[in-house]
Amino acid sequence: MNMKNSKYIRIFDTTLRDGEQTPGASLTIEDKIEIACQLSRLGVDVIEAGSPMSSEGEKKVVKEVANAGLETEICALARATKSDIDAAIECDVDIVHTFIPTSPVQMKYAVGLTRAQVLSSAVDSIEYIKKHGLKCEFSPMDATRSEVGFLKQVCETAERAGADMINVPDTVGIMIPRTIHKLIEELKKVVKVPISIHCHDDFGMAVANSLAAVEAGATQVHVTINGLGERAGNAALEELVMALHVICKLETGVNSRLLYSTSRMVSTLAGISVQANKAIVGENAFAHESGIHTRGVTVKPLTFEPIKPELVGRTRTLVAGKLAGTRGIKAELEDVGIRPTEDQLKEIVHRVKNLGDKGKLVTDADLLALTSAVMGEVIPEEKIVDLCDMAVVTGIKVIPTASVRLVLDGKEYIAAETGVGPVDAVLKAIQKLTSNLAKIRLNEYRLEAITGGSNAVAEVVIKVEDEKGHIVSSRAAREDIVMASVEAMINGINKCLIEKRKLGNKNCE
Ligand code: KIV
Ligand code: ZN
Repeated sequence: MNMKNSKYIRIFDTTLRDGEQTPGASLTIEDKIEIACQLSRLGVDVIEAGSPMSSEGEKKVVKEVANAGLETEICALARATKSDIDAAIECDVDIVHTFIPTSPVQMKYAVGLTRAQVLSSAVDSIEYIKKHGLKCEFSPMDATRSEVGFLKQVCETAERAGADMINVPDTVGIMIPRTIHKLIEELKKVVKVPISIHCHDDFGMAVANSLAAVEAGATQVHVTINGLGERAGNAALEELVMALHVICKLETGVNSRLLYSTSRMVSTLAGISVQANKAIVGENAFAHESGIHTRGVTVKPLTFEPIKPELVGRTRTLVAGKLAGTRGIKAELEDVGIRPTEDQLKEIVHRVKNLGDKGKLVTDADLLALTSAVMGEVIPEEKIVDLCDMAVVTGIKVIPTASVRLVLDGKEYIAAETGVGPVDAVLKAIQKLTSNLAKIRLNEYRLEAITGGSNAVAEVVIKVEDEKGHIVSSRAAREDIVMASVEAMINGINKCLIEKRKLGNKNCE
């Protein structure tokens, strides 16, 4: 495995595997490819793309990510069985990450294996992976609750069988920095291949424990964007990377300026919002309220900021609303790796100014939401469905009703519908008209107010599904929730119809 220099720590991102196991997270194949491309731009060393044995859909995702031409190494997870490893190998990945429990409780109750059986399955699996010419990362699952003598024996045996990296999972997050430091030191006495660490956050110590493991000699860390993952999640990439860079003076391949835009993308697509006071990527992480703080940072930012917000793709909230027109917005977006076309930039500036004219402070989150909505829109020449007009009525003794006038393939149509609320009514009216072109139904609808207040920018993310189960996601961000919903819906329907026509009616019919 490429270890670059002694100060370099490899970043192994498992957002698409452990992160996807977050209760309530939902990602389509399309979302996962988008996230994988962003992780690669971010500069992680490895992307764990999924567990191919778990379903045909998962296998398809891992294979598509592995063949997407990314520079990042792609890894698949496999239990220590031949069938799981075969499924991983079929996906064309660079690394197979194989695991087997080694703690008494998991050996007995999760897999029903004896110590001898665990040792021989580990050896067989590692040898099988190496025989196929792939890199092998081996995890003794629940390492931190395993008997240390047996854990050492498993790791030594795995190394002899050919494992290129030994990963140490704190599966239920019960370590504290002192204990994980000691364990890694112990393992380093018997293992020569690089050691990796995988910490869960059950007691809120995943990042601190990962840092302690690095101090003890681990050279790779498993992380997820926004700390997503099973139960309380995994070590958060953005926190760990910044602590490694700023506090420990170590290096990674991560371009920290892309951390915030990556966090927003994952949060929007997975439907899991980030708490406001979360380090690095939370809305308040660079917001200053009390007088002494605001005065201090205005005179010298270092007074109340450990790092410059720009370093992680943020702006200080005090200055966030004072966007300086087209050039300022362009520079701000370029800083976080976003390059809109001239037309897209014009539209973004127009929407930002619109908000500004209404006296609204435009935060960095608002700007990113507006930008991703504009950039995700279908370009006008390609539109099959377009909105001419709409009206909604709602009230206490009124059934919410909407009427819409759409252009479908150049011809105008009108429809009206009622619903449980104005958004439901208008989306039903749109679907009533577009059902003549294709049976596309709303599969998921999510609404997020980006910043507080009743004039907040609302971001709507929807997923629409065609008759064949092909799901497309689309989004829109406006102050008006009904308009944002209509825009996202029409965008999604257009994407689906365009794809259907491109594929010569093979896909969406
Ligand atoms: O937490 C864990 O033990 C895991 C393993 C599969 C490495 O995610
Ligand atoms: Zn895990």
